[in-house]
Amino acid sequence: VKPAETDVSILPVNHSSGICNVVTGTDIFHHIPRLLSENNLEGSACIVSDHTVAQLYEPAIQTCLANANIVTLPSFVFRPGEKSKSFSTLKRLLSHMIKTGMSRNDFVVALGGGVTGDLAGFAASIYMRGISYIQVPTTLLAQADSSIGGKTGINCPQGKNLIGAFHAPRLAICDLKTLDTLPLNHIKNGLAEIIKMAVIGDPECFIFLEKYAGLITHPEHRDKLEYALKASCQLKCQIVQKDEKETGIRTWLNLGHSFAHAIECSVGYGKLLHGEAVALGMLAAGQLAVKLSICNPIDVERIRSLLILVGLPVRLPKMDIQTVSKCMMLDKKNRFGKLRLVLPEQIGTVTIIDNVSVNLIETSLHKLI
Ligand code: NAD
Ligand code: GLY
Repeated sequence: VKPAETDVSILPVNHSSGICNVVTGTDIFHHIPRLLSENNLEGSACIVSDHTVAQLYEPAIQTCLANANIVTLPSFVFRPGEKSKSFSTLKRLLSHMIKTGMSRNDFVVALGGGVTGDLAGFAASIYMRGISYIQVPTTLLAQADSSIGGKTGINCPQGKNLIGAFHAPRLAICDLKTLDTLPLNHIKNGLAEIIKMAVIGDPECFIFLEKYAGLITHPEHRDKLEYALKASCQLKCQIVQKDEKETGIRTWLNLGHSFAHAIECSVGYGKLLHGEAVALGMLAAGQLAVKLSICNPIDVERIRSLLILVGLPVRLPKMDIQTVSKCMMLDKKNRFGKLRLVLPEQIGTVTIIDNVSVNLIETSLHKLI
């Protein structure tokens, strides 16, 4: 039995380039042909995916495209992992697109996690000065975060996401059924971003997460995850719509991220999942906010308890705190001489603080030992 039509939520996001409909639900691939036609996606399609995801979901997407009378060009499939978000994979992808004869009327289908979405979206942004693409995110992180908002890009040896473009997808289809095959640590990885969104601006969702924290990662309680994901997507869509190019409130989405990037860099990339680092970063930001008397310690304790309940880390792995603070201060140089941090004020609101001292950063990190 297919889920009722109402099980599909459609959130239209207004981008400068047009509307992107973010569609969320469980077992919703059968809606894809209709969604493609309603969103005027015609021409031929090229699926971009990593090997793991291609093996699991490419045949189903091929069928959807065929049912929509869309010609499927040969797919581009790459090695899974962050390393593929590189110039060399991008170059191979662009050559593939040229070889298959993709035209400006054709579109790319980014089928996979955030790596696939960022890579395929960036290729679509520069191929023939920009062609359409759709996102079919298959990790919770990609469904909650990276498939929404049009940030695309690749890494380079000097840093993550240094090369990229804002290029909004035409459609994002977030099917929670794909999470059935996703390892538990990646469910928790995405949950960290959902918790982050609740701290930024959705106290009700935070309470919901507290209530179901022990169940939400279990496959038999997908309805709880679906509720939280939809709430999170809704808030992200609202923020992106108000500030697409991150000149204002979209910065809020970086809550915990300056700490997280520095922690990831200090401990060595790949040792922690990004969501795990975001959990630690969010807590460090909370401790800093308490120190500055911006936030009540009770709220930070609530964040800590929720992270523990869902199985995210709340203590730093063995590492040198000074290395982390140095990393953050290096980041400072990149940002016009100021270290800008997003800090929680309470569950549901955040604020932006400039010029935080190294001392305070280190004190906050020490609280996580
Ligand atoms: P990922 O794309 O590498 O996916 C993680 C792993 O899960 C991969 O090995 C993949 O093969 C596997 N996988 C994906 N879906 C699966 C499924 N349904 N079943 C089984 N295995 C599956 O990583 P990610 O965590 O999804 O994304 C991380 C990337 O997202 C980073 O590069 C980050 O910079 C980027 N990101 C971008 C934005 C944005 O706004 N553009 C936001 C947040 C993160
Ligand atoms: N993930 C942060 C953003 O989309 O702005």
